[in-house]
Amino acid sequence: MTSLSPSTTLRGTPTVPRPRVGSRLGLLLLGGVALLAGLDGALVLLGLGAPVDSLRLAEVHGPLMVFGFVGTVVTLERAVAVRRSWAYLSPALLGVGGLALVSPLPVAVGQVALIAGSAVLLAVYAAIWRRQASVSTGVQVLGALMGLMATALWLRGVGIPSLAPLLILYLVLTIAGERLELSRVSPAVDHRAEQRMLGIGLGLVTGAVVALVWPVAGYPLLGLGVLALVVWLLRYDVATRTVRAVGLPRYMALCLLAGYGWLVVVAGIWLVQGPVYAGPAYDAMMHAVFLGFVMSMIMAHAPSILPAVLRRPLPYRPVMYGPAALLHASLLARVLLGDAYGWPVLVQWGGVLNIVAVLLFVVVAVTSVLGRPVR
Ligand code: HEM
Repeated sequence: MTSLSPSTTLRGTPTVPRPRVGSRLGLLLLGGVALLAGLDGALVLLGLGAPVDSLRLAEVHGPLMVFGFVGTVVTLERAVAVRRSWAYLSPALLGVGGLALVSPLPVAVGQVALIAGSAVLLAVYAAIWRRQASVSTGVQVLGALMGLMATALWLRGVGIPSLAPLLILYLVLTIAGERLELSRVSPAVDHRAEQRMLGIGLGLVTGAVVALVWPVAGYPLLGLGVLALVVWLLRYDVATRTVRAVGLPRYMALCLLAGYGWLVVVAGIWLVQGPVYAGPAYDAMMHAVFLGFVMSMIMAHAPSILPAVLRRPLPYRPVMYGPAALLHASLLARVLLGDAYGWPVLVQWGGVLNIVAVLLFVVVAVTSVLGRPVR
């Protein structure tokens, strides 16, 4: 979720006409539709009244959120960075795939679009790699491979619970690779630190593959891998230093560090419980990662992603702490009290407040962008 960093902008390559801001906004809106449909599906899953009371939205909630929403936003940011018009096919296919999943079309139509969008993402990384090979890109490639595997196996009929490690690593490795890319400015991040990150990424991928065929061995391996990743991030990520700054750097660092805390929860579940395919531990595992870590990363990086995509500034405002604080507080109630102590009502209330936090974040981001003149 970095934006236009020197290693990936492919500066110096012949410029190709790129989709205009309007088209990029259209792609972002596709992600927004997936988010809204996914939140509606979340209400159905919580057993609460939803604006659209559709079983289909509940059934596709997970892949819709992971690929239709987060996947579209992440690949859009990559497409902007890589400066190739064909790269926009990736967010377009993921966004359209999300739409197909919530439409009356057969689910397979959406699944095929998600596979295609994930395959184009790999081609995007190949273009980045040809220009400048780096460990950070390598780690993101591992994440993209996990996403492609997840979409292909989903089409082949493997259930989402069995695909959880792949879905999780798709986004965790993508974000970890981007944090490495950003942290390379720090003198602490030397060749050895990069090799460690690569080793952790390869270990996690091995764990995910083992978890598919031999879950009892694979999940503890994944737990150890995620713990190692957190140790790496706490040691090398610039967030541990910028948290002492003020304004935007501090806000970003706090969101990042809170996200790393939620990764510890996931690692704990995998180490203590092993394979989880349903029940409170499943809810906790999924949302510690996707809300506690991924959504927190999105909140942290929005002030740099949105300006790159929309060519409009998204200035930092202290009010941004509101949605972030609500997200983490409501997730604590949902996961650490509701799921862990078996209080379904807290899972429901925590879930509703998770949704409020996400929507509040969207409102703050949109009003902040609209309130500024075009750059
Ligand atoms: C914003 C508030 C959200 C709420 C209230 C919510 C709620 C739920 C609920 C109640 C379940 C069923 C859990 C179970 O079977 O025990 C679920 C499953 C899931 N959620 Fe969410 N969710 C939210 C956000 C997200 C986000 C942002 C993502 C991903 C980026 C996500 C990914 C998933 C996945 C992958 C599953 C598993 C789906 C399956 O087994 O088919 N959720 N969610």
